[in-house]
Amino acid sequence: MAKILVTGGAGFLGGHLVGELIKRGDEVTSYGRHLPDSPIEGVRYLQGDIRDDRGVDAAVAGMDVVFHLVSNFRSAASDGEAESINVTGTEHVLQAALRHRVDRLVHTSTIGVHGSVREVPANERTAFNPGDAYQETKLRAEQRVWEIYRETGLPISVVRPISLLGPGDERMVKLFKLVKKRRFVIFGDGSPLFQPAYVDDVVAGFLLCMEKDEAVGEAFILGGDEYLPLNELVEMIAEECGVRPLGLHVPMAPMQWMASVCEAIFPPLGLEPPLHHRRLSFFQNHRAFCIDKARERLGFEPEVRLRDAIRRTLHWYEDHGWV
Ligand SMILES: NC(=O)c1ccc[n+]([C@@H]2O[C@H](COP(=O)([O-])OP(=O)(O)OC[C@H]3O[C@@H](n4cnc5c(N)ncnc54)[C@H](OP(=O)(O)O)[C@@H]3O)[C@@H](O)[C@H]2O)c1
Repeated sequence: MAKILVTGGAGFLGGHLVGELIKRGDEVTSYGRHLPDSPIEGVRYLQGDIRDDRGVDAAVAGMDVVFHLVSNFRSAASDGEAESINVTGTEHVLQAALRHRVDRLVHTSTIGVHGSVREVPANERTAFNPGDAYQETKLRAEQRVWEIYRETGLPISVVRPISLLGPGDERMVKLFKLVKKRRFVIFGDGSPLFQPAYVDDVVAGFLLCMEKDEAVGEAFILGGDEYLPLNELVEMIAEECGVRPLGLHVPMAPMQWMASVCEAIFPPLGLEPPLHHRRLSFFQNHRAFCIDKARERLGFEPEVRLRDAIRRTLHWYEDHGWV
């Protein structure tokens, strides 16, 4: 039984990871800004901000393993907030992990550090090409992780998850809901490639990064191994929902102009813009990745096929009245 800290353990991916660790019999602490709506029995939830270095230090003290997941992933934070949460927050975790000599730190990056990939499938050696403040700050955090690894030998492994699907995910639910209601309009031609991964598969990869010595000093892209154009993904979701896809496309150029206007007007009023460039990048970026490195070095093997991942996620949304 290991003492394990999960930063962001109340979030979507963190919640699934924490649940799996509890099943294994580990002693699990979660550190994050809010407490979860449905706490998992046996988890010690600490409430704190990742930008509070003392809070982070106290949470890391006495831990064998730290999984660092906190990020501004779901909120369109200002550039400054993205910097402080993703970069400064990671620095706090790194320094605390060094001070308390943890046995393993698993840092969560993202395939977003590669941005929209030109040659598919991309892999861990593909050039970095972040496209927005979230991706840029996630990249800077990862680069700082590697600096600390080289300078100190702290046993760190980095995970770059592919876009996730699964119970409790509040991001893809919008896509499912709109497809089911036959209101999902595709901005652009719908050709960009998608590779959604089932959350349980990615959690299994996180555990391998904690357990395997081969994971230390390495970054791994984790996800499923099926990718397809957005148009086909929408068709698959529509089939599972029992509806025909709307099939409506609007050109990208005017949407970009509207996103710029929304980004100029809404944030100064303290409001989240209804349309922003990061949302548009969903319709533009190619996300198709090779998971061979994780397969070969960690024995990682995703078990849930894409259609099944869609079906399971849809059933969960339906059971919980989300779609
Ligand atoms: N989901 C994906 O498709 C995906 C893909 C690639 C990488 N990732 C990475 O995976 C990690 C987890 O993502 P997720 O999907 O689980 O996102 P999530 O549900 O938003 O989880 C992030 C957690 O971090 C917390 N948090 C945010 N800012 C904080 C702060 N300043 N101090 C303390 N806690 C804070 C959030 O709490 P609040 O409720 O207070 O915001 C939330 O509990 C992130 O590092 C993300 O970059 C996710």
